[in-house]
Amino acid sequence: MRRGTAYGAVALGALAFLATSSVADVPPERLPLLAIPVTPSPTPTPTPTTPQRPEREPVDCAKVKCVALTFDDGPGFDTMRLLDILKRNKAHATFFVVGPQARHFRKDVERAFVEGHELGVHTEHHLQLNRKSLSKKKIHDEIDKTRQTLKDYLGIDPTLFRPPYGATDKRVKAETKSQGLAQILWDTDTLDWKYQSASGIASRARHGLRRGAIILMHDIYPTTVDAVQRILDTCKSRGLTPVTVTELLGGTTTPGREYFDATESH
Ligand code: NI
Repeated sequence: MRRGTAYGAVALGALAFLATSSVADVPPERLPLLAIPVTPSPTPTPTPTTPQRPEREPVDCAKVKCVALTFDDGPGFDTMRLLDILKRNKAHATFFVVGPQARHFRKDVERAFVEGHELGVHTEHHLQLNRKSLSKKKIHDEIDKTRQTLKDYLGIDPTLFRPPYGATDKRVKAETKSQGLAQILWDTDTLDWKYQSASGIASRARHGLRRGAIILMHDIYPTTVDAVQRILDTCKSRGLTPVTVTELLGGTTTPGREYFDATESH
């Protein structure tokens, strides 16, 4: 038994090395600024108490003008502040989390869920999954481990996935389909990872704020969180209600399918 355990540890170490070395292949300008280093983390264990979601009537986007604000790569050090702003404005959003971040900031994940936000999978190591060099198993594991973390923490199966860099292909589609996840892209990129200025982020968001839009942001940048109140003010002035992605898409999504906004044209 001891020998088996030792071999297991060696195998895990080798896997962790492979995973970490792949991150270095991502173009540096597109690397997410993770709040903590990507390090191997223990397999999540089921939580004994599942946070209860307070009753909240889903918003009917056939009746009201909806928009979806989405935040990737977190949670991070500014996520709690973002949740405070959303709460104050009675606005809801969707968080596409990276596995190690979710496990490090578990309280943020649970709070977001309890406050009526939606959580989706953004993979373990933020790799570009449409690379031919990635094995089918690696693609599976990158999605599955983060999905399991959310399932363990929240007690429900996540249904949304956002491919890192928006990079998807047939293999990623097949994998997300088998894991019950719709692929959520976006139609407005605030470029908040590139230009960290709150007024610039708010301005780029303003250009895309219309009924049915999916806005891409990242809650790991303080400047992004600084921009959110202005974005919510614009929503209010345009009569737009910020909702979760699933609400925006009419309450259900199809696993494997790509969504860019709430129109039927894609
Ligand atoms: Ni990302």
